[in-house]
Amino acid sequence: MTSTHGTNRDNPLEQLSLEQLRTRTSTKWVAHPDDVLPLWVAEMDVPLAPPVADRLRAAIDSGDTGYPSGRDYPRAVAAFAAQRWGWDGVTPENSAIVPDVMLGIVEALRLISDPGDAVVVCSPVYPPFYAFVTSADRRIVEAPLGDDRRLDLTSLEAAFTTALDSSARPVLLLCNPHNPTGVVHTRAELEAVVALARRYGVRVVSDEIHAPLVLPGAEFVPFLSVTGAEDGFALFSASKGWNLAGLKAALLVAGPGAVDDLARLPEEVSHGPSHFGEMAHVAAFEEGGAWLDALLAGLDANRTLLADLVAEALPETELKLPEATYLAWLDCRSLGLHEDGADQSIGVVSDLSGPAQFFLEKARVALSSGHVFGSGGNGFVRINYATSQANLREAVRRMAAALDR
Ligand SMILES: Cc1ncc(COP(=O)(O)O)c(C=O)c1O
Repeated sequence: MTSTHGTNRDNPLEQLSLEQLRTRTSTKWVAHPDDVLPLWVAEMDVPLAPPVADRLRAAIDSGDTGYPSGRDYPRAVAAFAAQRWGWDGVTPENSAIVPDVMLGIVEALRLISDPGDAVVVCSPVYPPFYAFVTSADRRIVEAPLGDDRRLDLTSLEAAFTTALDSSARPVLLLCNPHNPTGVVHTRAELEAVVALARRYGVRVVSDEIHAPLVLPGAEFVPFLSVTGAEDGFALFSASKGWNLAGLKAALLVAGPGAVDDLARLPEEVSHGPSHFGEMAHVAAFEEGGAWLDALLAGLDANRTLLADLVAEALPETELKLPEATYLAWLDCRSLGLHEDGADQSIGVVSDLSGPAQFFLEKARVALSSGHVFGSGGNGFVRINYATSQANLREAVRRMAAALDR
């Protein structure tokens, strides 16, 4: 499916034309009519990385379509973590294959908390945190990020106090790096969070799905590598880095002080991931490094382009350059398009209100609506910039035109 459409032969973001992308049947491409430019859900407009495609093709050719063994995933993540992050905290003994990151989070919560217990999240944050935590019979307590969009110790301390008032075993669910702000937590920030969590007896589960997507200038710090984080859990996946959301598999990793908890993980959890999922994720972590580097270079260029386009065409809005991910969090509050109280649909990924609704209707650009990301999200939109530069230019042009710029 490659074409000469792109400007850079190695950049995965410049390989596919809009016409080619519109033949896709994934949620990003079927949710809206063809006149809408979809820059919402976290799927990338890239072809499959060749090592992943080759691994899957070989499996098809040899009829290797049985159950996953779970044997190779820890090995692949361990090698990637050692090479990219200088961290050797993943072993077959301290990890388990799970169906995907969200279900892995739910399983970790089941291991270390009880129904009714509080789960602290740093809002605004990935909307399914709300939906999955709630459907797992836990309660969300928000610890809003600071105005600088970074973790806020004062708000975390208040949330821990609230959580402990009503639950015996509260948990902090971290997003590292953070979706939707693209913030990469520093070691000093994580150390401060760990110290606070220990003081309050709060266990931590860290969602590290965006870790492979840390962009030049920032450094990813695995949560479990932080001193004092030994009784935590972390989740890894190739799903975001290599666009494998349709190929289900993820890895739940326990710190040394959580290995006994992991031993209680029900055996049936390992029945959820698919063999094709495990093979694809293993191929990505083992052999997808060069492809990932080309992607990161493309994303680095795109975040700068997007920031420039926004500064020029949408000057009332504010975009802080993301340090990771392909998601940009655009402050549209000064446009006056949102209403207070539009927080009924927190956690419902596809719900629209305020600026996202305006841009869909008037600009035919689909963005994620900030209000579903929890407190602090109303009046923002999240832009997925894992697309071609032509699409980014067209999206911002349409948005500015809709505002009569
Ligand atoms: C922070 C975060 N966690 C989890 C997921 C979903 O992962 P999975 O499909 O493996 O459950 C996403 C998807 O965008 C995400 O951004």
